[in-house]
Amino acid sequence: MNPELDREIKRRRTFAIISHPDAGKTTITEKLLLFGGAIQLAGAVKAKKSQQSARSDWLAIEKERGISVSTAVMSFIYRDLALNLLDTPGHNDFSEDTFRTLTAVDSVLMVIDAAKGVETQTRKLLEVCRLKRTPVITFINKLDLDSMEPLEILDNLEKELGISCTPMTWPIGMGPHFKGVYDLRDKSLNFYLAAERGRKNEREVIDDLDSDKAKELLGMDRAKLVEEIALLEDAAPKFDETQFGRGQLTPVFFGSALRNFGVKELLDCFCDLAPPPQPRETLTRVVVPEEEPFSGFVFKIQANMDKNHRDRMAFVRVCSGVFRRGMRLVHVRTGKEVVVRNAMTFLARDRSIVDEAWPGDIIGIPNHGTIRIADTFTEGEELAFTGVPNFAPELFRRARLRDPMKAKALQKGLEQVCEEGAAQLFRPLLGSDYVVGALGSLQFDVIEARLRDEYGVDATFEGMQMQVCRWVHFDKPDLRRTFENSYVKDLFLDGGSNLCLLTETRFRADYIAEKNPGIHLTKTIELHHQ
Ligand code: G4P
Repeated sequence: MNPELDREIKRRRTFAIISHPDAGKTTITEKLLLFGGAIQLAGAVKAKKSQQSARSDWLAIEKERGISVSTAVMSFIYRDLALNLLDTPGHNDFSEDTFRTLTAVDSVLMVIDAAKGVETQTRKLLEVCRLKRTPVITFINKLDLDSMEPLEILDNLEKELGISCTPMTWPIGMGPHFKGVYDLRDKSLNFYLAAERGRKNEREVIDDLDSDKAKELLGMDRAKLVEEIALLEDAAPKFDETQFGRGQLTPVFFGSALRNFGVKELLDCFCDLAPPPQPRETLTRVVVPEEEPFSGFVFKIQANMDKNHRDRMAFVRVCSGVFRRGMRLVHVRTGKEVVVRNAMTFLARDRSIVDEAWPGDIIGIPNHGTIRIADTFTEGEELAFTGVPNFAPELFRRARLRDPMKAKALQKGLEQVCEEGAAQLFRPLLGSDYVVGALGSLQFDVIEARLRDEYGVDATFEGMQMQVCRWVHFDKPDLRRTFENSYVKDLFLDGGSNLCLLTETRFRADYIAEKNPGIHLTKTIELHHQ
């Protein structure tokens, strides 16, 4: 046992914030970074809708569209803890990247808009968390606006997400009458006193619900609050650490990110409850963070941070041991040894060379396309971390060149852009037209722009009939040839040379599966490279 390693593991929390777009993820991120001293001014993160510098200017399209498409990693210190926040783009069209980011965290902070309750994107993201049994802490945001009744919100969470809810705080009033929260753990009242001109927002904490001061500040809301507290104490599920650890129960907080009310309480409780780096599975064994030899896997690739050098950043989640600058690591898929001198860490918007990194940390390894998603790095052991999925795209387009002389460049551009994982490239068994599949249509605009800017290729994307993609698996390898002969027109190879069936309807895919015993069609495929 290495005491330093042990200590560093215990003080790390690696997490992501998930929400439907507009629920307040960026606002909360900014507040968390402010508490952590990682940024000085509100607005350093939240610039996506303004003309000022965007959070990430890696892609010109981000600026054009005013949205944020890059997943950033932000590390900051709070109390004595080293927090790694993996930002996930909330935009619907980039969910594949987001889903994969969730494979690299140990817990999740879920933000819900109090007026809207559970929305589609949250539902999809939480499904991934549940599969992975990731602990979830919930923040109900925008209580300063008219909202659903808090009990109704809990009901909505439980029904829509199938997760038990233990309220930790309880709102007093809402909208213009939002007065603050009652802390159900220590039974204190936290009043939110809106800023008067030229003053900061203030809060007042009162320990006793029966005190004169409390009665005065609560006014008409007191009776309702007392009744609700009695109800919750009686009927709300008690906090259970085991259930929380398995992602079956979530502690719930109420507040307003914009007014900075309830966020610090959330962060404090997050630091107490969220687990430190957890063990991770590989094809051969479970790796625990306390193991001394270094291991880590790539969950994201970000391209062309420096356009002139075609460099790419592979984001590696450290799973065990210590990373030290200049270390010799084995890139397990290729078997090659690499000396890593220029790995990066990320502090809010800045990046710098990392000297050492511990389990739970994220390091960025610059490369020229040699590293792929799900690749593993070790000090020599042939490990392959599992659980990094590829999801079946839902939209398919054929790439069409305007200048036929550029076929080679198109192929290279498509291959490289798709290797980053936000879209997938399919090569037909028959014919030569490349097909790109994505989860959202904006992705095609991104690729078109990048082909033009980075590869000098003028290409467009043409719509296709196909809507369904399934990976094909065989019980016995000799079934493959007959199957390929029967369905050659529908078959493609993905970027990892896995066989896929692309068809017009789900009905046809189901029919094909039914007619061909011994073959299985799946909507996701595990990415692990040995
Ligand atoms: P996102 O990252 O989840 O997409 O959400 P974001 O934080 O950008 O918040 C979406 C909108 O909701 C923003 O307003 C933001 O100011 C507002 N918002 C966030 N938290 C609260 C809250 O607690 N109360 C209220 N009333 N509003 C909140 P916007 O007008 O779309 O953007 P902006 O002009 O403020 O940048």
